[in-house]
Amino acid sequence: MAEKRVGVLTCGGDCPGLNAVIRAIVYAGKNAGREIVGFNDGFEGLLQPSRFDILQTKATEDIMPLGGTILGTTNKGHFVTKVGQGDKLTLADGVLEQTKKTLSDLNVEGLIIIGGDGSLTTAYDLFKAGIKTIGVPKTIDNDLSATAITFGFDSAVSVVVDALDRLHTTAKSHKRVMVVEVMGRYAGWIALHGGLAGGADIILIPELPFYYEQVAEAVKKSTASGSLNTMVVVAEGAHAQDAGIVTKGDDGKSGEFKLGGIASQVARRIEDMTGRETRHVVLGHLQRGGAPTALDRILGTRFGVGAIELVNKDLWGHMVSYQNYLVGSVPFAEAVSKLKQVTDDNQLVRMCREVGIDFCDQH
Ligand code: F6P
Repeated sequence: MAEKRVGVLTCGGDCPGLNAVIRAIVYAGKNAGREIVGFNDGFEGLLQPSRFDILQTKATEDIMPLGGTILGTTNKGHFVTKVGQGDKLTLADGVLEQTKKTLSDLNVEGLIIIGGDGSLTTAYDLFKAGIKTIGVPKTIDNDLSATAITFGFDSAVSVVVDALDRLHTTAKSHKRVMVVEVMGRYAGWIALHGGLAGGADIILIPELPFYYEQVAEAVKKSTASGSLNTMVVVAEGAHAQDAGIVTKGDDGKSGEFKLGGIASQVARRIEDMTGRETRHVVLGHLQRGGAPTALDRILGTRFGVGAIELVNKDLWGHMVSYQNYLVGSVPFAEAVSKLKQVTDDNQLVRMCREVGIDFCDQH
């Protein structure tokens, strides 16, 4: 048995780049004399009887281009300690004891937890309870304030751009308005970046509630300018000034809301208010699947190596973060529960306005 083992697990929604992180942890871990134990299905793999694989470089050498996670993940399970935008729960009875026993039985010194805000909150709770943990931030939503970027975001944006390029041509043939709903939960980063790169005329995001009258005006303006197609990108969490976020109810397990449905509402209102034939498309989980972009492979690799560097420095209780083109770290206390949202004075928002993109927020 290696001197000291380190565990790794992926939790929450999957995203492109997870396997690049795992691969880098295995390679850099080997260089540091650590054997890596990959727990299956997120935190759930820690419960007794534990489910894990000893990860070798040979078995992980080809996984970088693969979407998803070779370890599997669980979105909601026995370890959920945070729901929605702030509600805090405590770990269920027995979970801590079982986790400690699993780690001690397998001679695992600590855990590298690759996850979004909810999973990192759990990682912090485990750390406070005496279990050594390190976080690696993951989400296509790019909504964690302690890191300038998360891996998976660039891949999601590239799916949006590809979809918009395709939808442009069919919308143009039929002289239609096309409303495209993208993910992002309570942050508009995917819509903002995807919309700009994909040539959207209108971008609707949660942080800048919109007015339907202004959406209709912008569509009419685009028609009057001779444009044959009008492209609207709407974030799943976007909402009108006088309305709430559109949801499909809670997930029936943890009370977390499933967002979705705003595109069909926006499309219907546009058709009613302008007379323009309008269609809507929901990109959904296409944004989370498939191979990571080159940027996400590189970022994932850097984050994985960065996590092992934290292990080597004994910097447990920290999360890997990316700032000013460098991978570093921040303590969990500064990292979790701090949502990064788009602000009105964001440079990209301002520049989008300069090139004629309308947020329909009465700016
Ligand atoms: O947080 C990532 C994300 O893809 C969000 O953009 C989206 O709202 C949510 O996960 C979807 O989750 P699920 O896979 O549970 O439907």
